Amino acid sequence: MNQITVHTSRPYNILIGNGLLKDIGRYVKEVSGCHKVAVITDDIVAGLYLQTVTDSLRQADLRVCSYVFPNGEASKCHRTLLPIYDFLIREQLTRSDLIVALGGGVVGDLAGFAAATYLRGIDFVQVPTTFLAQIDSSVGGKTGVDTDGGKNLVGAFHQPILVLCDLDTLSTLPEENFKDGVGEAIKCGMIRDAKLFEVMRSGQVREHLPYVVSTCIDIKRKVVESDELDKGERMLLNFGHTVGHAIENHMHYQLTHGKCVGIGMAVITKAAAAAGIGDPSIHDAVVQALQNNGMPVSLDIDYSDACEACLHDKKRSSNILKCILIRSIGDGYIYAMPAENFKPFVLKGVEK
Ligand code: NAD
Ligand code: GLY
Repeated sequence: MNQITVHTSRPYNILIGNGLLKDIGRYVKEVSGCHKVAVITDDIVAGLYLQTVTDSLRQADLRVCSYVFPNGEASKCHRTLLPIYDFLIREQLTRSDLIVALGGGVVGDLAGFAAATYLRGIDFVQVPTTFLAQIDSSVGGKTGVDTDGGKNLVGAFHQPILVLCDLDTLSTLPEENFKDGVGEAIKCGMIRDAKLFEVMRSGQVREHLPYVVSTCIDIKRKVVESDELDKGERMLLNFGHTVGHAIENHMHYQLTHGKCVGIGMAVITKAAAAAGIGDPSIHDAVVQALQNNGMPVSLDIDYSDACEACLHDKKRSSNILKCILIRSIGDGYIYAMPAENFKPFVLKGVEK
């Protein structure tokens, strides 16, 4: 088992290994004096892992209740959140009790936000069961929900007290969901770790899973420790995401996040090369990594239209748009440009 400690305003450990779920009761006891645990999960993950988790918690003499909601991004909203508050109140969870978020990023963001806000904040443990959740969303304390106006527009920073990454859970994850994590892992290599990138480029991800998960988590740890509240360096994690979000939005979320981010990385590196501020070999490397992992590298859409949406991004604070570029593999940096330059810049990256 590997252990990584995240030194945020409230430090916590991330445990990475096999067979951790069946011992969750013991791990929870080590970090919390709670009497009752509310396990929040979705219907697919519940069918696979809820029993193991609740059995282990009960064996550790904890009182346990659980709440299951329908899987999928559509559940990450107030329509699921409000009944979760009702459930926590009904179950009389107190400020010294605990929430366990068992599932992918949707469960982690939603249950994490419930933990951040119920009784003005109670402890929670992340138990990520998707590749993306293990290497990205369970680390760093961003929690939140979508609104009809956009994704992740309501949220809070609330660090978990423990993250349990049981690699065995990835054996049941459908390939298409696994690819979402692959996109993020290629991103991590590109921005901070050339060796990780080469493993991703080889396409042998499952063969190197403990290394890939631990390395991605450690990259995110360092970025989050230097900028917990996302005011500067944390933006590096957005490599490929500005264009990726534009594509996601344009496709009405019919193409999954990791694939959109992958295409976003290909587009932005080609645009940088065309503008003379990026080495063309970086673009070629991204394309190879995506192709070797069975991911799309381009998409025939109207990028002019797609870019308009991200120019109206509600979270952008000024007329300056910051995107992430790559100096050399493993060395990403923040590149600021006037917002009006962004669309012509991107269009250079999609010229045939
Ligand atoms: P998800 O949570 O929707 O999970 C994808 C699918 O896999 C779901 O159908 C789920 O039921 C299923 N699943 C989960 N674990 C499984 C397992 N072990 N075996 C079989 N099926 C399993 O999606 P995701 O990709 O994990 O997360 C996406 C969400 O994460 C988005 O809402 C995104 O905004 C958020 N996110 C948050 C952060 C953050 O920092 N908080 C970072 C990145 C992404
Ligand atoms: N996924 C981006 C972040 O955590 O900041």
